[in-house]
Amino acid sequence: MKNRIADELIKGDFVHKNILSLSQFDRKSLDLLFATTRKIITKCKQNKCPQSLAGKIITLLFFEPSSRTFSSFSSAIKRLGGQTVEYQNPMETSSAVKGESLADTIRVFESYSDLIVIRHQTEGTAQAAAEAARFAPIVNAGDGGHEHPTQALLDLFTLHQKFGRLDNLVGVMSTDPLHSRTIRSLALGLSLYPNNTIYLLSPKHLRMNPEVVKEIKKRGTKVVEIFDTKDIPTQANFWYWNRIQKERFSDTRDYESALGKFSITPQLLKEKGNKDMIIMDPLPRVEEIDPRVDEDPRAYYFHQVRNGLFVRMALLSLILRG
Ligand code: NCD
Repeated sequence: MKNRIADELIKGDFVHKNILSLSQFDRKSLDLLFATTRKIITKCKQNKCPQSLAGKIITLLFFEPSSRTFSSFSSAIKRLGGQTVEYQNPMETSSAVKGESLADTIRVFESYSDLIVIRHQTEGTAQAAAEAARFAPIVNAGDGGHEHPTQALLDLFTLHQKFGRLDNLVGVMSTDPLHSRTIRSLALGLSLYPNNTIYLLSPKHLRMNPEVVKEIKKRGTKVVEIFDTKDIPTQANFWYWNRIQKERFSDTRDYESALGKFSITPQLLKEKGNKDMIIMDPLPRVEEIDPRVDEDPRAYYFHQVRNGLFVRMALLSLILRG
């Protein structure tokens, strides 16, 4: 049995570590990840993507629907010369439906592969998988409304690419801070850097969990909760919008009452935007950004997707190095 802590701090050394939460990161680790990402971008642009995963097999175990993250990982692995065992919706197609425990599933798939990427609708599943695994590192590709670290890493990379820093930033995050794991992970990431301010815009019933707000504030980031678009500050560096997380509501009326309330429209951008800001969204988009915004040069969401590929390539290379 391995004797390592599932959510061990990274401290600049990714080798064979699980990636479960942004809480494992420090600035040094992010610097290394971003430097590696930049090198990979340069090499791939010359049509010479490093083949650092040659001979490696990675399992993609996705219990929850995904198109972007799943394909992004799949493509990242193949561009690095690795191969995948891919399992989507295992509740429909695998032994999980027969009642197999998560621990058994993990132990089986780690026998086939060098690393497991897991997405699951239940908070804490990535941690449980990491505790069950004996050899293979586990990468969390989203566990319920809890965290989505690789999305936050690509979001942080995108912000760093645009502004050249991750401190002294003002961001507005909407529309569902209660359920959005990408908002939570990104806020945790930003709180590693000094002097950031996050405005959380939502209906009152979708405010971020106060425990998480407390944690972010404790790390020195200013958090301001606002409930009306008229309170959006005009000096923000970025707006980060994520759809209302429909699948996480027990009462559909709560979902419906929030839908479309805070959508980004050309009109809102005119009233509250500024010329130097960027607009981000982890996608998929449902109603939170009017498609008329897509042609605006400040719309960065498709650029994020491209960065996601390279950041995942860098992350996997660093974990499986040596
Ligand atoms: C996000 C997720 O799964 O949390 N999507 C993604 O990974 N690109 C955002 C979402 O589903 O709203």
